[in-house]
Amino acid sequence: MKHFTSVYDLPSLEMGLQEAFEVKKHPYDFQHLGKNKTMILLFFNSSLRTRLSTQKAAENMGMKVMVLDVNQGAWKLETERGVIMDGDKAEHLLEAVPVIGSYADVIGVRSFAQFESRDDDYNEIILNQFVQYAGVPVVSMEAATRHPLQSFADHITIEEYKKKPNPKVVLTWAPHPRALPQAVPNSFVEWMRQTDYELVVTHPEGYELAPEFMGEVKPEYDQMKAFEGADFIYAKNWASYTHYGKILSKDMNWTVSDRQMAVTREAKFMHCLPVRRNMVVSDSVIESPNSIVIPEAANRVVSAQAVLKMILESL
Ligand code: CP
Repeated sequence: MKHFTSVYDLPSLEMGLQEAFEVKKHPYDFQHLGKNKTMILLFFNSSLRTRLSTQKAAENMGMKVMVLDVNQGAWKLETERGVIMDGDKAEHLLEAVPVIGSYADVIGVRSFAQFESRDDDYNEIILNQFVQYAGVPVVSMEAATRHPLQSFADHITIEEYKKKPNPKVVLTWAPHPRALPQAVPNSFVEWMRQTDYELVVTHPEGYELAPEFMGEVKPEYDQMKAFEGADFIYAKNWASYTHYGKILSKDMNWTVSDRQMAVTREAKFMHCLPVRRNMVVSDSVIESPNSIVIPEAANRVVSAQAVLKMILESL
């Protein structure tokens, strides 16, 4: 595997899962692959899980790790071509990326949607410049439109907790005070569509995800109907794609609570975290025995390590 920016970079879903369960069982057996190799983790945005789990995964693989918060201590980076750089941005990505690439064997990049231009966000202008100019493999640690390490960890977690081969998995929108990107839901839907699970996506009207991520999946606007008989509930807020970056609803009836969970098949509750309690999910649901948000987050080490193993094996 050269780069990891979406589910389509895996050799196959089955091989991805196989690698994941292998590194989970034997986390320290592959350190020869990372010996004398360096991973640089570059953050344009905040992180708790991605930062720690990816560093842990790289160290498990025997790699050295350097972490750079681009907006704290580095030169501010210009990302657009052709601009006259007379503002506060002292360096262009076109120089910075190959320089970083010259110090690293693998680069991880976190760069969220900026909500200034849907075209720029959906063309992944920052991530793609890394892929194009770094000269080394690039791992998306959440880009403008996808969060593939998260979706991979979500898939691993569902495989571990499912009680039947093809469970009903429901992605539900939930309210939030701030406008959040569509990267997690896009990526989750795209990934789940590669499985044989029964996938249902539910949200208020106006929150339809981009057609390229939904494919043949049609939204169910009735949340209670969507939850009926579900085996997994995956909650997430996102801002509108159609009215790009806008908050259209803060309807607290969509907060995942015992009322909706009661019509499921004792569904497991999932969320990528961080989560706003009593906005996205009630205390009672996230603290219930059916909440698997902590093992889901723990599997972020596993997904990152499986990806690094596949990349290091192909260097
Ligand atoms: N789920 C996730 O990516 O968490 P962080 O934003 O804390 O990295």
